[in-house]
Order: sequence, then C-alpha cells, then structure tokens
Amino acid sequence: MSRFWSPIVARLQPYTPGEQPRVEGMIKLNTNENPYGPSPRVTAALRALDPDDLRRYPDPQASALRAALAQRFALTPAHVFVGNGSDEVLAHIFHALLQHERPLFMPDLTYSFYPTYARLYGVAYEEVPLHADLSLAIEDYRRDAGAIILPNPNAPTGRLLPLSALRQLLVEHPQEVVVIDEAYIDFGGESAASLIPEFEQLVVVQTFSKSWSLAGARVGFALAQPHLIEALERVKNSFNSYPLDRWAQVAAQAALSDTAWFNECCGRVIAERERLATALTALAFEVLPSAANFLFVRHAVGARRLLAALRERRIFVRHFAGGRSEDWLRISVGQAAENDALLAALHDIIAVAPPAPETAR
Ligand SMILES: Cc1ncc(COP(=O)(O)O)c(C=O)c1O
Repeated sequence: MSRFWSPIVARLQPYTPGEQPRVEGMIKLNTNENPYGPSPRVTAALRALDPDDLRRYPDPQASALRAALAQRFALTPAHVFVGNGSDEVLAHIFHALLQHERPLFMPDLTYSFYPTYARLYGVAYEEVPLHADLSLAIEDYRRDAGAIILPNPNAPTGRLLPLSALRQLLVEHPQEVVVIDEAYIDFGGESAASLIPEFEQLVVVQTFSKSWSLAGARVGFALAQPHLIEALERVKNSFNSYPLDRWAQVAAQAALSDTAWFNECCGRVIAERERLATALTALAFEVLPSAANFLFVRHAVGARRLLAALRERRIFVRHFAGGRSEDWLRISVGQAAENDALLAALHDIIAVAPPAPETAR
C-alpha cells in the first residue's frame, strides 16, 4: 500500500497464476500446457522470420490470422477478435460487454480470473453453485441475469456440457450476453461457435495456449456476431492497438494450417487422460469425468499432503486452496512417461500415508 496508488489498486485482489518453477528434471503438470510441442510448421515459420522486421509495428488487425480463424469456423473476419492470450480477450469482454444493472452469473467453482476481472471493471456478479457432484445445470441459471459466463468444459472440474444444453441456455437468455470460454473444448467437446449465426448474444472464447501448444506465444480469440466484436475492438483500441506481436501472429497462423498435427496431439492427450483416469481410480482416487487436458481428483490422504509429497519429488500439480476446491487437486495430462512417473509417485506416497483426519470422508 502506498499513498501514490490509485484508489482501485488497494481494493484489487489479483489472480494468482500457476507456478512456473525452474527446477531441473521437474514434471510440470500444474498449468494445463500441452505436453507436446507445436507443429513443425510453427518452427519453420518462426525460423523464416527476419528479425530486422521487428523494427516495424505488427499488423494491428492481425488480418491474416483473423481470416484463417474465420475460415476454420465458417465465419467472416468481422466475427473474429484476437488478443494477447484469452485472458486479455476475457478482460476486454468484461470491460466491454458484461457490466449491467443485474449481476453477471458464473459458476461458484470456475476459472478464478473471472471474479478478478469483475472487481477490476466494476462488474457485479453472482456465483451460481455447482451441484454436489460439481456438475453444472443450466436450470440453475433460469433467473434474471445481467449476463452469463461459463467455461465449457468447466475449469477446474473438466466437466462438459453438451451443445444442446448451451443452445437451451441461449434460448432462455435472449437478452443477455452469454460468454462460453472454450479454452479446453478441443479435448473432447463440441464448440458453440456453430451457434453464433443464430444467437446475437453469444460470445465464444478460445485460446492457442492449450490444444495448439502455444502457451508461450500468448494468442487468444473471441468469436461473435460483428456488433459484439465491434465493442471489443473499441476497448482494445482504447487500450493497446498492437496486442499481438509479429512472431505470435505468424506462429498462430502456422499452427492453424497444420490440423493433422493438431488432431494427432489432441488425440494423444485424450488417450492419456483416459489411461490416467483409470489408473488413478485404481489408486482409490475420486476422478471427475473430464473433457479437458486435466483431471480434477481427490483422495482420502488429502490434497495438501499429496501436493507437498509430489513437490518433494519435483512433480508439480495444482491445488486451489479453500472453499469447494480445498480437497481436490488438478492434474494436467502429461506425456506417457510423465504420467507414469506421477502414478508411481502417488502409489508410493499413498502406501505410507494414513488418511488425513481433516479430509476423511
Ligand atoms: C478456463 C480458462 N480460460 C482462459 C484461460 C487463459 O488462457 P490464455 O490466456 O493462456 O489464453 C485459461 C488458462 O488456464 C483457462 O483455464
């Protein structure tokens, strides 16, 4: 706290990003990165770049990338907004589209950046409780909302809603902006992007960080009808006109051009996820059904103990302390060898650890 701060800064509760440790030989399963690298076309495209071009600003409209995205989703470039990671895209959405008289509805256990953005941009919000099994029912949203945001699949649970449920949600909320955050949709769900021509209030958000293996490039995007995209452009051009650098634009375009690589990597992640889920269940974990590249799990030994014991073995997973997530760990799906090492470590830890009294169920 300093007397030089703007008043809002003291009130902010910033998001805590997942740890990015620098530990030799670590197994990093804590921030849902793709265990496989980006397409070789990305490497080739970046190698072909001339560093001398960096003296010039990049295309502020990212026109080529937006055209490629429009083509992938059978939309037009006017339906596409790109930003510096989907976090930035989401920030602009909160700023431009979610402040209304009535509160924004979001699940009570969801991507923890949403409440942070709501506070930053003065968006009143209400948390709609997930059911006891951490599933989300759209009937619970059948009330007067200012707007709605939810990830599909939800994070950190991994649970998926079918497209039919989202269609129903949109039918029931024709007057409110509905944001579907599809950061993990490529690992087993069906995108709501196909509903955009039909629903003028729908915004779909995706990212290159997970399924496209480009977390380090920071590229995210929103798809919506042009009247909503225009609102995002207005905020963006009042904030930072060049959110995507040249390298990021080129990397994302090259990744998009290689759908064979994309499909292969997503398929491998899905197969490993199912193998890991079966093996964790055999170790007496409760494993939520997941359509994402992570599993949300709990065990009688207790999340904090497992987290610490894994950490000692240089295996990093994620724990969201407090509230309904206190007992759970979120484990990103790694490569087969990483998953095997995780399973071996958990086997050893559980063998010697008595159940934690505070989490005994
Ligand atoms: C549900 C959800 N949305 C959005 C993001 C942001 O991703 P990025 O800013 O890397 O595009 C994440 C990152 O973990 C996420 O889990």
